[in-house]
Amino acid sequence: MPLSINHLLGMQGVPREDIQLILDTATTFKEVLERPIKKVPTLQGKTVVNLFYESSTRTRISFELAEKRLSADSINFSVSGSSVSKGETFKDTVKNIEAMKVDFVVVRHASAGVPQYLTRISNSIIINAGDGTHEHPTQALLDMYSIREKLGRLEGLKVCIVGDISHSRVALSNIYGLKTMGADVSVCGPATMIPRYVEQIGVKVIHNIDEAIQENDVLNVLRIQLERKAREYFPSLREYNTYYGLTTERIEKNGKNVLILHPGPINRGVEISSEVADGPAQIILEQVTNGVAVRMAVLYLLGTKHS
Ligand code: CP
Repeated sequence: MPLSINHLLGMQGVPREDIQLILDTATTFKEVLERPIKKVPTLQGKTVVNLFYESSTRTRISFELAEKRLSADSINFSVSGSSVSKGETFKDTVKNIEAMKVDFVVVRHASAGVPQYLTRISNSIIINAGDGTHEHPTQALLDMYSIREKLGRLEGLKVCIVGDISHSRVALSNIYGLKTMGADVSVCGPATMIPRYVEQIGVKVIHNIDEAIQENDVLNVLRIQLERKAREYFPSLREYNTYYGLTTERIEKNGKNVLILHPGPINRGVEISSEVADGPAQIILEQVTNGVAVRMAVLYLLGTKHS
């Protein structure tokens, strides 16, 4: 069965069968990435534009690598050095790029809803690489893939997302995706950083990090989104670290084997100590490795559906 979706705009509303298919296909691509020649001809002749209006290290390089591993032609657009500085509108930029015959647009933008808008003005396949504080679906897919690879399942697992939930597109995509896959999802953080609606969508709210460690199988730790003015939501970074920072002492005190994820970039000594970020319970760099296979799966499944 092909994917039911034509674009990947977010995890909200993506059916369980689609998520399952993406994760299973990613397993096949992970095997390809372990071969001496890490390349397949699947998307030969297809062109992907990586349209990044916001900074990125992991997502951008991961998409570019995924595209190259599938033999697609990759074009990288960044605002600096483009005609955006000459006053060109977003719509005109997209229309001009599309006039050069592209098949996919992978977009990251500071404004929520830009990927959805692109589906109205463009004929390309659109993949959301993070839109404002809204969604980051490929991050949630790679997080789910990494949890499933490590613990063997998602159904029935207790997963807590810790930190700045209000400003996090990773949190929302993880909540939708994990809930669809049958996980028991909670969030933990200061009351000022937890949106009121999360309980309405069936997510438990915890304010005590010790309780979050005790109750859960997995913690997905998020950074404070300083670029989105998150610094105004608590007295100081030091205080945030005192109450919510994940440390080895905290994990050991709660006597729990808990799997630690972090989407990156890490702010060491704020939401997570270096000892935990480099320690045995975390799979942070495995998440990054898995991201390439997951993005290959998304590109392949959407690209072959349309061909
Ligand atoms: N996790 C993530 O989206 O990282 P980047 O901002 O570096 O892409």
